[in-house]
Amino acid sequence: MEHQLVVVLDFGGQYSHLIARRVRDLGVYCEVKPYTITAGALAALRPRGVILTGGPNSVYLEQSPRCSKELLALGIPVLGICYGAQLMAYLAGGEVCPAPKGEYGRVALELTQPESPLFDGVAQSSVCWMSHTDYIRTLPEGFVSAAKTQNCPHAAMANEAARLYAVQFHPEVQHTACGQALLRNFLKRICGCAGDWQMSGYVEQTVARLKEKIGEKKVICALSGGVDSTVAAVMAHRAAGKQLTCIFVDHGLLRKGEGDAVERVCRETFDMNFIRVNAQKEFLGKLAGVTDPEKKRSVIGEEFIRVFERESKKIGKVGFLVQGTIYPDVIESGAGDSAVIKSHHNVGALPDVIDFEEIIEPLRMLFKDEVRRAGLELGIDEDLVWRQPFPGPGLAVRILDAVTPERVALLQEADAIFREEIANAGMARAISQYFAVLTNIKSVGVMGDGRTYDATVALRAVTTSDFMTAEFVPIPYEVLGKVSSRIVNEVPGVNRVVYDVTAKPPATIEWE
Ligand code: XMP
Repeated sequence: MEHQLVVVLDFGGQYSHLIARRVRDLGVYCEVKPYTITAGALAALRPRGVILTGGPNSVYLEQSPRCSKELLALGIPVLGICYGAQLMAYLAGGEVCPAPKGEYGRVALELTQPESPLFDGVAQSSVCWMSHTDYIRTLPEGFVSAAKTQNCPHAAMANEAARLYAVQFHPEVQHTACGQALLRNFLKRICGCAGDWQMSGYVEQTVARLKEKIGEKKVICALSGGVDSTVAAVMAHRAAGKQLTCIFVDHGLLRKGEGDAVERVCRETFDMNFIRVNAQKEFLGKLAGVTDPEKKRSVIGEEFIRVFERESKKIGKVGFLVQGTIYPDVIESGAGDSAVIKSHHNVGALPDVIDFEEIIEPLRMLFKDEVRRAGLELGIDEDLVWRQPFPGPGLAVRILDAVTPERVALLQEADAIFREEIANAGMARAISQYFAVLTNIKSVGVMGDGRTYDATVALRAVTTSDFMTAEFVPIPYEVLGKVSSRIVNEVPGVNRVVYDVTAKPPATIEWE
């Protein structure tokens, strides 16, 4: 069964996928498409509604991204947000220009057309989140103003007959009090969506599409060992069965026991064609003496590709390469206009060296918690799906010095103790990511009667919804104390444990 679809047209703003995610949270299946899609191609998708997103440009500039005007005349309800609102006004013949005063952050919103279906159940006055320098000065013909703020006379506009709606503010952001209600009204009241979509539907539909695409061809999947690539592999396996071969490159930088757990799931639970390459020695050899984190990332990334290339040659010609890229990887690696903060080696590198026809990234649109839900739907064990997110370069980026087998072993032990105690404290699910770091600080300690000069282990635990911003977790002192004393007592070479109490930004989640 095809699901009711809403399309989010991406004009380069930061929030396109957040909007898509909010729509899915409201039980409506949603996909993000580039703004360049033609009206015909869009209509062929038979969406129930279209959302035009924000973007950093001014609509009246020559080079600004614009969709075709025809899109507004398809009879499909459209909601413009921020830049999308201005674009709608511009395309429909209104006037957009720099506002006498821009608005950034929380702003008081006043409804002027509370009877609009968009505002069903919304308070007459509330707070919204704004971020604009331009504004809609003159409404296009057929539109009425539906809300205002102090500096924005048309903070919302509507053309009920044409089913066109627009808001200057950001309903997808939590600071907009009526945001959720407004999106729900658009989806359910205006677009007529049932709101009954669930992750099972996504899995089902993605598997069906993959099956159709793959046909009889061979598929390979690069398994790094983390949650994302495992879920992607199992999804691809559901579609391709024995046509799929998973290549698990074990670089020896996984957490304690993790490589074996992944192998068990793939071989025993799902009976996949599964190749485990034990490349620990090769990776550690290449990493010898490397201390710069970006260098570590590139060494591991390149070695991963080399090993994968070598192994994949043994399989022969393949039609498709499956990768477990998820949405935050895409933005953090600098896709679109976002800045490159850290290079995530799992994005984009393999395709250059492997001979295949097409790449498949079944999780590209999903946020981490959505990936977990998909994993559970696919029948992967809870323990595995709920593992901590793990950087592709593994423990190498958690050792703030050159990587050696001894340091890896030390960190694996310390990290395992931290994870065990967090689980014992019943906190595992409430924390988005937690791990131990082996710092490059050595300090004096005293153990028994002797002086020590040993390593400092740092503990990090954060909550986050999208891994782009994060808060440190106030882990109770008793738990921290227990972890600290166990690490110092059980892991030789460590005499001090510290806890990181920094948010992202200004810090990042990983230490390197
Ligand atoms: P940061 O440290 O940038 O981390 O705040 C955000 C999320 O990304 C993960 N991370 C990586 N993942 N390759 C990856 O696949 C990498 O090089 C990498 N560096 C960070 C990190 O664990 C966190 O979940």
